[in-house]
Amino acid sequence: MGPHALSDLAHRFGTPLYLYDLGTLDHAIQAYRHGLRAWPGPSLITYASKAWLSVPLVQLLVRRGIGFDVVSLGEMAIAQRGGASPSAIHVHGNNKSRELLSRAAGVGVHAIVVDNLHELEQILALKLPRPLALWLRLNPEQVPDTHAYRQTGHATSKFGLLWEEAQEAARRIAAAPHLRLTGLHAHIGSQFTQLNPLFRTLDRLVQLAAWVQKEGLGHIRYLSPGGGLGVPYHPQDPVTHLVAMVRQLASYAAQVWRTKMGASHPTLVLEPGRSLVARPGIALYTVGTIRHLPQGLRIVAVDGGMSDNIRPALYGARYTAALVDRPLAPPAGPAQVVGPLCESGDFLIESIPLPEARPGDVLAIPVSGAYHLSMASNYNGMLRPPVVLHAYGRLIMMQRRETPADLLRRDEPLPPVAD
Ligand SMILES: Cc1ncc(COP(=O)(O)O)c(C=O)c1O
Repeated sequence: MGPHALSDLAHRFGTPLYLYDLGTLDHAIQAYRHGLRAWPGPSLITYASKAWLSVPLVQLLVRRGIGFDVVSLGEMAIAQRGGASPSAIHVHGNNKSRELLSRAAGVGVHAIVVDNLHELEQILALKLPRPLALWLRLNPEQVPDTHAYRQTGHATSKFGLLWEEAQEAARRIAAAPHLRLTGLHAHIGSQFTQLNPLFRTLDRLVQLAAWVQKEGLGHIRYLSPGGGLGVPYHPQDPVTHLVAMVRQLASYAAQVWRTKMGASHPTLVLEPGRSLVARPGIALYTVGTIRHLPQGLRIVAVDGGMSDNIRPALYGARYTAALVDRPLAPPAGPAQVVGPLCESGDFLIESIPLPEARPGDVLAIPVSGAYHLSMASNYNGMLRPPVVLHAYGRLIMMQRRETPADLLRRDEPLPPVAD
């Protein structure tokens, strides 16, 4: 990582350790900006906080003019603590709590994205201090090429309004004096590489915008096809080119908008999570026990696992890895890289041709920046790892390692009761 050897960083900060490289993050942001030039109107990049959120990350993104998509009071609190203005925050989610809705309305977020009609009723019942901007999340009935658990745009998904529901929502918003329909949104899933379902999603969104305009129900100033662009994790994954993908998306959006709506373009809002932060992240682990089974299988156990990266267990996600001191050593047959937790599903890599590994070796897993730490748990009392930023040569602690005291902080001692 820049001038710093990964093994030195592992020794200095301990493992498991997560590193983020700011240069790689900036590169991804530039790729989005570059690709968005194909959109003739204004554009906005809104970071999908669920990929990983922390106060210092928010600070970095705020300085780079990025907005935030949040789905909970917790994400909103972190975004605000990091300096995100409410006017740069969009609130998503299929079951937003009353507290989240009224807080979002109270602080004046940029928009609440209405996910279903039930939620709209709750919004209609709010006592609003000022007019509230709403977007509709359309369920476009599109299925991207990704794991079923990451698909969110099919007709039976829990997310988003079906076409007739979206029409009803638009009518009800137009009839409410304190609500404004300002944007249309969809998000069909995550970690996909084929853009066709996203093009069909844009067709549907623009079709809905045309209907809203024809019915005089609102002025669509924001158009958002969500996030979801995939990144390669494994040598066999398709190679993706971020600038090209964003450019294709933006130019397709421009073409549909011009055909159906004419020359005045809304703000195109892209909502990347993974494609911004996955590649900047590297996870480092230390090898502990090594077992050679009679069947020829080698099991290499490291000091982190499903508690900091649940993706292999959840989605069968595949990764590659290297021993940082001997990255080019020849493989000594296949190995399974497992964690220390009490689950057979606690593995990071099911099978990888790894060189001979020794206890104490440091193992690096690249592309670890998204949906690892945001899904991390304290299962088996595991302490969540520290996060260090590599900022163009400087090392900055973003999050310290959890301690047993952190684990004990919420527990209340039982009062002396007779039971
Ligand atoms: C509404 C919404 N927008 C954007 C994203 C970001 O997706 P990704 O991290 O794949 O870019 C998500 C995550 O699934 C999401 O739920």
